[in-house]
Amino acid sequence: MKNIVLIILISVCAYSGDIPNYYEPWQPDYYQQFDDIRIQVAAHGLLAPNAHNTQPWIIKLIEPIEDSQPSTGLSFELYTDTERLLPETDPPARQITISQGTFLETANIAANHLGYTFAIELFPKGEYGSSDFKQKMQEKPVARIILTENFVSRFIGTNFREFDSMYKEIFDRVTNRTVYYGEPLNDEEMTGLQTLNDYPNLTFVFFNDNESLEKIRQLTIDAVELEATTESKIKETERLFRDSEKEKKEHRDGITMMSGGLNGFKLQMIQFFSNLFALNWEKFGQIWIKSETRNIQTAPTFAMIISNDNSRTTQVETGMLYARFQLKASTMGISMQPLSQSLQEFPEMSELYKQVHNEFAENGQTIQMLVRMGRADNVLHSPRRDVMDIIIQSEN
Ligand SMILES: Cc1cc2nc3c(=O)[nH]c(=O)nc-3n(C[C@H](O)[C@H](O)[C@H](O)COP(=O)(O)O)c2cc1C
Repeated sequence: MKNIVLIILISVCAYSGDIPNYYEPWQPDYYQQFDDIRIQVAAHGLLAPNAHNTQPWIIKLIEPIEDSQPSTGLSFELYTDTERLLPETDPPARQITISQGTFLETANIAANHLGYTFAIELFPKGEYGSSDFKQKMQEKPVARIILTENFVSRFIGTNFREFDSMYKEIFDRVTNRTVYYGEPLNDEEMTGLQTLNDYPNLTFVFFNDNESLEKIRQLTIDAVELEATTESKIKETERLFRDSEKEKKEHRDGITMMSGGLNGFKLQMIQFFSNLFALNWEKFGQIWIKSETRNIQTAPTFAMIISNDNSRTTQVETGMLYARFQLKASTMGISMQPLSQSLQEFPEMSELYKQVHNEFAENGQTIQMLVRMGRADNVLHSPRRDVMDIIIQSEN
């Protein structure tokens, strides 16, 4: 007993000390320690929402050609980190590819704020396919980016101001996994968000009416139950669940209890006891079902991003749009949480996948993102790695 009290005291003291390493990238001046603008913008991109918080990004810095003019800009390539895929719940790596887009858009907004244009060429060596892609992902960058100082930005004008107002939200935005309350989004809010979409291939749809809400709530709860009770699937999430300070400091990725509204002493206690009495996957799944069901029931609005095709380029663009969407919603005080289970492509989910598509999409369309939205109390951020962990230098 004495030992337990001692360990509790030590954990509480540890928590009340300096900022833990996994929160350093969330500090607004974190990027300033790097001289290279490419690393500075990557330090912002790292804060983007991403599937299971695996942070599946590799940035390859391209050496400038000798004697080149400064106006040719500094460039880098973004690759998918194949060590950080989710083969069980995201077999075609669709969500991982969307997460490349969230990174790009967040970095783009930061670059514009810092006075650089961020010219993106998607899949300069062609797309990786929808199967057998692991090797190709290592050979084919998702994007080549050129950063140029003092060049006429494509966001000058309304878009530029809009994007600049989103910059500070990069550090505040969070995926909120608590109960939501209040009224559904009003017309002005929905229109404000819809104007962000300038991708002809993508559509934003909001759902506020009782009939749709009931259907979506039921579908999403059924899908959570299915995933939570399918051993190989829930084990993938469990593997990325960081339930102790030690794990968070060591891995600096994954899902934590903090986004579910736990913080301070209560968080410390739960983390401490979950270390003592490790849960098996079935118990873990049951707890997840309970909290997700409660949260889904309270959401006053749902939204979907629906695409006309399902190419890799479209998936990246979905992520770019989603990053904008969440940053803008955050400026409006609106919280959100993606609920991806019914959109996942593993065989056990196929019935629910069909149902949600038959109900809410046209023939041939793909629902890329399904999110719940509303007002909520603040929650803490998820961990992030050091930006230098995702940076590599090109060989030539
Ligand atoms: C493509 C995609 C799918 C996601 N699916 C889910 C989901 O099903 N459930 C959930 O709670 N969060 C989901 N998220 C949110 C991520 O888990 C979240 O962004 C990540 O854990 C980092 O946390 P943060 O957004 O608070 O920084 C998804 C995010 C993306 C980009």
